[in-house]
Order: sequence, then structure tokens, then C-alpha cells
Amino acid sequence: MRIGVLTGGGDCPGLNAVIRAVVRKGVKEYGHEFVGFRDGWKGPLENYTMELTLETTRGILPRGGTILGTSRTNPFKIENGIERIKTNLADQGVDALIAIGGEDTLGVATKLHALGVKVIGVPKTIDNDLNNTDYTFGFDTAVNVAVEAIDRLHTTAESHHRALIVEVMGRHAGWIALHAGIAGGASCILIPELKFSVDKVCEWVESRFKSSYAPIIVIAEGAIPQDGDMMIKDGELDAFGHVKLAGIGEWLAVQIEAKTGKEARTSVLGHIQRGGTPTAFDRVLATRFGLQAITAASEGDWGKMVALHGTDIVRVPLATATEQLKTVPLERYKESEIFFG
Ligand code: F6P
Repeated sequence: MRIGVLTGGGDCPGLNAVIRAVVRKGVKEYGHEFVGFRDGWKGPLENYTMELTLETTRGILPRGGTILGTSRTNPFKIENGIERIKTNLADQGVDALIAIGGEDTLGVATKLHALGVKVIGVPKTIDNDLNNTDYTFGFDTAVNVAVEAIDRLHTTAESHHRALIVEVMGRHAGWIALHAGIAGGASCILIPELKFSVDKVCEWVESRFKSSYAPIIVIAEGAIPQDGDMMIKDGELDAFGHVKLAGIGEWLAVQIEAKTGKEARTSVLGHIQRGGTPTAFDRVLATRFGLQAITAASEGDWGKMVALHGTDIVRVPLATATEQLKTVPLERYKESEIFFG
């Protein structure tokens, strides 16, 4: 078989580990050939490709990002987008696609499968918010980056008697904030799933100062104050209709200073969480996803997504990945509240 591989949406540590595993097992065990489509759905749309062989995929396991490049291109928003993809796949002699992505990329893959394209999906996102998989690779790396930042911020916050706010990624799901906040011993964690009270945050800040420690507040970029809205950078939407978020951490610092009289500063971790080398956990998960994806393709089990259930890699219907967003259950969040303040 000749199989196309693409990576779409925001990049994520572990993408290269998936590509490597797919190609390695695909060539050595099944004798498949591969073509890499560059920059997400732009690749099959514009016939923009690169060679994917044992040689071109050597040495990429620990590398962050994606050797294929990525984009947020939505072929359903482009005139004749789907016809162009089908024509280009036929011209390239491609029998099937392995699409590695988050809700947007896998949403497109699901629709393409319904239109007759042979597709296997591999879930990726640092946000860990894809449905029907316990974890996505990239999440563990992002959490570890955030925890390292929090550990460093503790000592400087205490030296200066400041409240320090750490803004992490997570538009609608607070998984990174929750895990980094628990592991980093945050004074409070604010997630998009539960609107927060500024007065309550100030109470926690003051109580942390009383115990002669300085407070660290971990806030997800999509967190919303009880009497306000999500902080949006500008009105611009991407091809999948997402707004850009920015500013909730800065906004909260101003509120804390005004209400408590204590100095408050914000560090926005941004894309640092997505870049760089994957943790060992993410390398293993990504590798196991890649191995299962190529096995599924070789068995012709189209329209499936590989997923982690417990410690097993399983196959689930691709459509279930995007049925709903996997947000933080309230009871999981409540577990962490005992450490606030
Ligand atoms: O989808 C993952 C994510 O990391 C979100 O948490 C974040 O809002 C978004 O990507 C930002 O991506 P970009 O800056 O590439 O648009």
C-alpha cells in the first residue's frame, strides 16, 4: 500500500515519534510505501509533499515539532477543497491517509472518511481534551514544562513577597492547569470549566502570605471570572472558528494588586509548553499510537482512531474523538481545592 501521513493543528511534542513508528513498522513489517503531506491539510490540498522513508525518519524520536510541518488549514472552507484532495491522492497513488491531529484535524478526517477516503486518526494535543482517549501525547511534556516554571517561580515569589501568576494553555479544558498546579503546589488553580471569584482568589492569596509563603496562582488561558468574559486578543477567527485568547493572567494581577495591596506579576508560558523535546512518557505513548495506527491501516480498519484506554492502546470510531470535548470533571477539580490558600 502507499500511505499518506500528515500532521495538522497546533504542533505538539511526540509528533515525530508517531511518524517514525508508522514508517518503521510500515516498511519493515508490511512493505508499505509512504508519502508525507506537508503542513496539515494544505499538503493533500496543494500536492505539497516530502519523502517519508526509513532514512528520512531516522533520528527524529526526541525532536519536538513535526518534520512534516503543520497548519490550521480547513479544506471544507476552501472552494472545491475535497475534490482537490481526492484528485491529488489519486495522482500520488495514495491508497489511504494517517492523520495525526486534534479535534479540528480529526474532525476533517471524520468527514473525509464519510466521503469515502480511507483514513486512520491519531490523537494529539497538549490540551488532553480529545474524547475517547485517556491521554494524548504532548500533554505530559506541557505539564512538565509548566511544573518546572512553577518550581522556579516559587523561590523568586518568596524572595520578593509577591503573588506570581502562571498562565498556561487550555482554551476550554483546564487539564494542563490542573496537573501543573497540583504537581507545582499552587495556591490556587483556575480552569475554564468553573468560573472563578476574584474575591476568593484574593482570600487564598492573603492566607498564603500569612503562612510566610508567597502565592503561586496557576490559571488556564480560557479561565473566566464570575462577573466577566473570556479574554480575547482580537476578534480574528482561525479557519476552524477559534478565537485567540490573551490577557487573563495580566487582568487577574491588576485585580489582586487593587484588592490586596500586594504586588502581583504574571508569566505567560505560551508556546514554550508546546515546543522542545518530548518527555519519555510522551515518546512511548506516541510510538505505541504510531505502531497501532499502521497495524490498523494494514488490516483495513478504516475510520478508526487509536486511543489509550487504561494502559492499552485500542481502536475507537474516529467520529467519537470529536463528539464532545473532554473537559475536567468538577469532582477532579474539587480534589485539588484542599491545597488552595
Ligand atoms: O490547541 C492547542 C493549543 O495549545 C491551545 O491550548 C491554544 O489556545 C492554542 O493551541 C494556541 O495555538 P496557536 O497559537 O498555534 O493558535
